[in-house]
Amino acid sequence: MTPGTYYIETYGCQMNVHDSEIMSALMESIDFSLTTDEKTADVVIINTCAIRGKSQHKVYSALGRFRQTRKNNPNLVIVVAGCVAQQEREALLKKSELVDLVLGTHQIAELPVMVEKIRRERVRITKTDFSRDVQSLGIKGVHPKKNQVCSFLTIMQGCSNFCSYCVVPFTRGPEQSRPLDEILEEAHWLVSNGIKEITLLGQNVNAYGLDLGSRGAGFCTLLESLNNIIGLQRIRFTTSHPKDFDENVIDAMASMDKVCEHIHLPIQSGSDSILESMRRKYTKSEYFSKIEALRDKLPGAAITTDIIVGFPGETEQDFRDTISTLDQIKYDQIFSFKYSVRPRTAAETFPDHVSEDIKKDRLAQVHELQDKITSEYHKSMEASTVEVLVEKDPSGPSGQASGRTRTNKIVNFESPITDLVGLTVKVRILEGLKHSLRGKLLQESLNKKSI
Ligand code: 5AD
Ligand code: SF4
Repeated sequence: MTPGTYYIETYGCQMNVHDSEIMSALMESIDFSLTTDEKTADVVIINTCAIRGKSQHKVYSALGRFRQTRKNNPNLVIVVAGCVAQQEREALLKKSELVDLVLGTHQIAELPVMVEKIRRERVRITKTDFSRDVQSLGIKGVHPKKNQVCSFLTIMQGCSNFCSYCVVPFTRGPEQSRPLDEILEEAHWLVSNGIKEITLLGQNVNAYGLDLGSRGAGFCTLLESLNNIIGLQRIRFTTSHPKDFDENVIDAMASMDKVCEHIHLPIQSGSDSILESMRRKYTKSEYFSKIEALRDKLPGAAITTDIIVGFPGETEQDFRDTISTLDQIKYDQIFSFKYSVRPRTAAETFPDHVSEDIKKDRLAQVHELQDKITSEYHKSMEASTVEVLVEKDPSGPSGQASGRTRTNKIVNFESPITDLVGLTVKVRILEGLKHSLRGKLLQESLNKKSI
């Protein structure tokens, strides 16, 4: 059968974005080409997220959109991948007659063979087994595109923490680290293909290697090996769990030149009793000590976090504790969510669910406070000079290029010079906006060597 085109739609986190990159590479390995026109595609892949109720519902409305496409093209293959696929398994085939392939989170590597089988035999397939062998999880490097500067690199998958609200341990399985040599090989390959910045991905990256026991290296050893790669300029990692983020990681961040001064450290709540019922395994004061140690050793580091409001049993006082935590720590940026009940999680059976109206109101208060804090940070950067790794060349009428600082702030800047992608340049900040910074290229920072 002749290959055709595929269309891919992605919901959720960076892990999902990277899984979609891998699925694209796999489709291209069987000569399918990407199309942005969903109506003419031969294969549609919906890569789903189940972390919150809202994310889960998106898959059903997305499927609805493809009803007409299927009528126009009975040979269309519809794949549902990701966490909803893993959660629903064969039930998804019953819930929607449009779905041809349910592809679980450990079965990505099977995509090309399954698509070809469905096109040949018009069968409906569920592939959702968990694999114990991390090497067979289908995690492969994705060839960087032209002018691509930053890349993800998965170092581990799954999570064994079982926070009481979270579905991830059920949809992605237990924590499994990739072998160090495999990660280093992929990192070298990315750098030799033009990548300057690597973001290490995992649900709990600071626990890297713990599941490998004495056979494995730890997270700091991994950072050290990556920090030695010539040509690599920046290393980031996400997500850190506060229980595993310790002095060793802080020392590594402070001493290794390529490791960026940014930590995403989800606190979830500022109330000890809520943290306990969330099963987060740290107290507020333990969390604060880690922030203090980080700010002591890396004074300019940016800190970001995740917050859940309206967890079962969250009283007005618990919520005020979260607000005062945000006020005290003054995060650079936060991601905040209304609690939503998830199937199979411990919190599913917890009493005292908070009403939707109260959750909405609390979330609005969190947004209002954080917007003020982020804006103040950005304003305070006006007239300063920052170092930017350029990700996009100047475009548009005003010639705006863009990139990020080591602290992960987006900077859009005017530049009369083109061909900047991949260079590290100095930018004078003209204006601090709500979500980004606007600046002007300091041309004198472009010495001949960097051009
Ligand atoms: N409800 C709301 N937010 C959730 N998160 C995870 N599970 C839930 C849930 N059931 C949030 C957490 C996590 C982020 C990725 O999503 O804040 O850190
Ligand atoms: Fe979910 Fe907790 Fe694991 Fe993060 S650490 S993925 S919140 S169970």
